[in-house]
Amino acid sequence: MIRLKQAITTLSLSASLAIASGSLAEQRSEPTLKEALEGKFLVGATLNGWMLSDSDHPAYDLIETHFSSISPANSMKWGPMNPQPGEYKLEQADAFAAYGAQQGLDMIGHTLFWHSQTPNWVFEDSEGNPLTREALLARMRERARMMAERYGDRIKTWDVVNESIEGDGSWRKSKFQQIIGDDFTEQAFRIAMEELPADAKLLYNDYSMTDEGRRKAVVAMVKDFQEKGVRIDGIGMQGHWGMSYPSAQEIEKSILMFAETGVPVHITELDIDLLGRDHFFGANVDIGRIQANEENNPYADGKLPAEEEERFADRYAEVFAVLLKHSDKIERVTFWGVTDEDSWLNFWPVRGRTNFALLFDRDYQPKPAFYRIVELAAKTNSEPTAE
Ligand code: XIL
Repeated sequence: MIRLKQAITTLSLSASLAIASGSLAEQRSEPTLKEALEGKFLVGATLNGWMLSDSDHPAYDLIETHFSSISPANSMKWGPMNPQPGEYKLEQADAFAAYGAQQGLDMIGHTLFWHSQTPNWVFEDSEGNPLTREALLARMRERARMMAERYGDRIKTWDVVNESIEGDGSWRKSKFQQIIGDDFTEQAFRIAMEELPADAKLLYNDYSMTDEGRRKAVVAMVKDFQEKGVRIDGIGMQGHWGMSYPSAQEIEKSILMFAETGVPVHITELDIDLLGRDHFFGANVDIGRIQANEENNPYADGKLPAEEEERFADRYAEVFAVLLKHSDKIERVTFWGVTDEDSWLNFWPVRGRTNFALLFDRDYQPKPAFYRIVELAAKTNSEPTAE
């Protein structure tokens, strides 16, 4: 198997060396996710900073065996890449693009413009005064151009704007919105359309896409862009979901409403929070965090009782029944992480909690939820729905 370090050093040869490691799946006895879901949608996972700075990280085995698409957890966000004016930290983003190209994986540029993990300097001049609309738009264009020049040949799908719409359908009062105005998202897509290669797919991405106000506003926005000739190529539903929320019906309703605009749906950040969030749902990263304690962290040793494991598998099966039913409208389903060990839900919204959110456990083994999805996909193959 070719590892990350080699991937970077052999980058110029990557076209001829791509996919030299096809045998891994054959060495394993279990089915692979990407084979089970072939012809339905791409299946993705997130590479985090630990993986991107350790070419021997054990997650690479699972990625190469089971996944056909990758997203960077943090390495391509504005802050981590460009923490100060003129200071660029590109090692992890470069490693991500080199690895994905070398492995022949679909790659997502996550994310060009987001109110979170964007440093204050972006919105200020050298004296700390707020930028003008024109100056901020120029700064956004500069970032899009840099991304296009450095990664545009290999990364073909971009989360252009992340989370600019509130649950009630209003524009989020972010610094982008305050300086640019209500057309921030439209301007961002115009910039992306002009700066990224013509074959780049441009996505709008958000959480809690089953909120009535938000989904209506997203549909209206996509239609508005289409009428104005502003390119938009997909709608990203993050999919940071809980054990009972949102309901399968609401997920289905959003997929149908979004698909009606004519662009495909991407499930971009799927995880299911087994332990739950008492006080809210969704993935609003702006909320404060609390500390883990005995009450909110019941499986601190990482071992889940069998009945909980089953409950978790049932919920994944419920979600995938909807996704598989509408696979003709869905281009990709990406999990936000690889194993439970690297899920962000161990840190958010409760710091230091041992959470269970993904298909592989802390020993890198497939969980019952994994097998349920594989079974369901096989069944959907043999019993196609009327649609
Ligand atoms: C998360 C990362 O996984 C964490 O490591 C980081 O501390 C916060 O951001 N919505 C998004 C993702 O679009 O970028 C977020 O990722 C999770 C919520």
